[in-house]
Amino acid sequence: MFAGAQAFRRLEWSPVELASRTARDLSGVINLASGSPDPSVIPVKELAELFEEVVREYGAKGFLYPGAGGVPELVKELKSYVSSDLGIDIGEGDDLIVVSGAQHGIKLLSQLLLGPSDIVVTEDPTFWEAVDPMRFQGARLVGIPIDEHGMDTSRLEDFLRRGHKPRLIYVIPTCHNPCGYVMSLDRRKHLLEIAEKYDLLILEDDPYRPIAPNPPPSLKSMDIRGRVIYIGCMRQGASTGAQNRLRAPLKRCRGRARPS
Ligand SMILES: Cc1ncc(COP(=O)(O)O)c(C=O)c1O
Repeated sequence: MFAGAQAFRRLEWSPVELASRTARDLSGVINLASGSPDPSVIPVKELAELFEEVVREYGAKGFLYPGAGGVPELVKELKSYVSSDLGIDIGEGDDLIVVSGAQHGIKLLSQLLLGPSDIVVTEDPTFWEAVDPMRFQGARLVGIPIDEHGMDTSRLEDFLRRGHKPRLIYVIPTCHNPCGYVMSLDRRKHLLEIAEKYDLLILEDDPYRPIAPNPPPSLKSMDIRGRVIYIGCMRQGASTGAQNRLRAPLKRCRGRARPS
């Protein structure tokens, strides 16, 4: 048996993918299984114009490897957007990374942070596509119930009081997938307090913020202690083929990376 066989056994077909395949083959059916925008609202003309503009301005340079972390011009623009529009304070250094989708970011972080039997706390239910990369590393997922105010943080604290020490808390606080709930400000504050008290890292997956009506501030923007790794997304409202970004307190992640 080759070395990866055990890990493969832990993988299951994604129900989102299976449902999407079924929907694709049925005419007149709208696919609600994945977070894809309505094709009629995708700004195809504007995207084509932007693409042309980039080709004109950068020529062949636009088609070369960007270097690890993303095209420097894009990283610069994103840093300015993240600080002005999302209120996330970006310090000097290399802690904003462009990735090829949120799932790519989750996969990279799982490889960096998780190993056999590590506990990851998630909302129950959670985004299926985040589960597999974590399980692939051998991590054990523990679900905490969610209600209309988001993850029930008092239940999380009960769990931690019993002596469990998760490696990561993975949450989708704004427009949770699949429940659609938005975590209240009080619960956000409580979650950050808990992370500080029990010395934990939070992974905030925030793809729907650009299309959420008046959402509370992100956990990352309230994170003065550097406990939150933030995955944002610029494509859910425009094009699910565009790129995402990952904002991580790299120093804290480095300190917790699993030895290879
Ligand atoms: C919770 C969550 N995170 C992230 C994403 C986007 O993932 P990706 O950028 O890899 O398509 C989605 C899309 O469905 C989602 O629901």
